Amino acid sequence: MSQTATMRRSVVLKRRPDDMPRREHFEVREDAVPQPAAGEVVTRTIWLSIDPYMRGRLSDRPSYAPPVQIGEVMTGETLGEVIASSAPGFARGDVVRGSRGWQTYSISAGAALTKLDRHGAPLSAHLGVLGMPGTTAYSGMKDIGQPKAGETVVISAASGAVGSVAGQLAKRAGARVVGIAGGPDKCLWVQETLRFDDCVDHRLPSLGEALADACPNGIDVYFENVGGAVQEAVFARLNFHARVVMCGMVSQYNERELPPGPNLGFVVGKRVRIEGMIVSDKPERFAEWRALASPWVKEGSLHYRETVIDGLENAPEALALLLRGGNFGKMLVRVGPDSV
Ligand SMILES: NC(=O)c1ccc[n+]([C@@H]2O[C@H](COP(=O)([O-])OP(=O)(O)OC[C@H]3O[C@@H](n4cnc5c(N)ncnc54)[C@H](OP(=O)(O)O)[C@@H]3O)[C@@H](O)[C@H]2O)c1
Repeated sequence: MSQTATMRRSVVLKRRPDDMPRREHFEVREDAVPQPAAGEVVTRTIWLSIDPYMRGRLSDRPSYAPPVQIGEVMTGETLGEVIASSAPGFARGDVVRGSRGWQTYSISAGAALTKLDRHGAPLSAHLGVLGMPGTTAYSGMKDIGQPKAGETVVISAASGAVGSVAGQLAKRAGARVVGIAGGPDKCLWVQETLRFDDCVDHRLPSLGEALADACPNGIDVYFENVGGAVQEAVFARLNFHARVVMCGMVSQYNERELPPGPNLGFVVGKRVRIEGMIVSDKPERFAEWRALASPWVKEGSLHYRETVIDGLENAPEALALLLRGGNFGKMLVRVGPDSV
């Protein structure tokens, strides 16, 4: 353990936000960096992933996962370096992945960590394009969306961690791919770098018309990341036998009252398939996706972007930024130097 690594900082939940999470909902605590007991590993956090699901963990509404309790360290996936180990199979200097939360150092049972094979990719890519968000896109498209050549596929939050991969997969399947994103810069990147066929700015008042222009043959697959007005505009243009991958509805995560539900009568007549998914339902997809996508990342044919915020204490702002579209690609917090 280095001389300076004597204290650990952790971000704990102080009170639950009613709407947008802010710094005052959290508290930074300091304690001594723990020493590993038999079977335990101490890691220094390098990267912390910031994801929309974290908003759900701040609320005690019923959900598919339990909330973080007041006074508990905020949950989150991390990549870190082993600095001390009493667990078989882990040695100082190993790079590991785990759900170790918002803290600068963590102590875990070895079984809670996975040694990382970089597959020749930058470390941070393992929290984004090759990690949970990339796997979500892959799983959603493989199991539900199933885009085919010539079909029209629409992706919301198209420049984001999940959406950017979902759309590139649909392009590889030969579909016409239309992104929906917030603002001209994101739309330009989606078209020029990701090579989507079109991209519609959801901030424009004429979203419905712009979407109709971009999808003259209607919509066969919709990868849903945002909900709200975007969903309404897309649902109105779904084709017979369309598939909707219900991945997330980030526009509603800060709402105190959920809006009234949509009128889904068209689902019957058009035989639309709308199916929800949670990436962890099919754990085998993670390794499958890493094996498939790592060569694409290495050769530069699978594109991704990252927004990096420095410093653990800025994680609450990073989460708020993500929830209002201030990120451009995968949102990450750099907790410590990536010097392994
Ligand atoms: N089901 C699963 O297992 C699973 C796993 C991972 C993620 N997800 C879901 O996938 C979605 C995308 O996650 P991600 O990690 O890739 O995040 P992301 O797309 O990188 O970032 C979130 C994006 O949502 C958009 N957004 C925020 N508020 C919005 C609003 N009011 N209206 C329209 N768009 C809004 C913003 O993009 P613009 O600036 O373009 O609007 C923002 O950049 C989320 O819904 C998340 O919950 C689900």
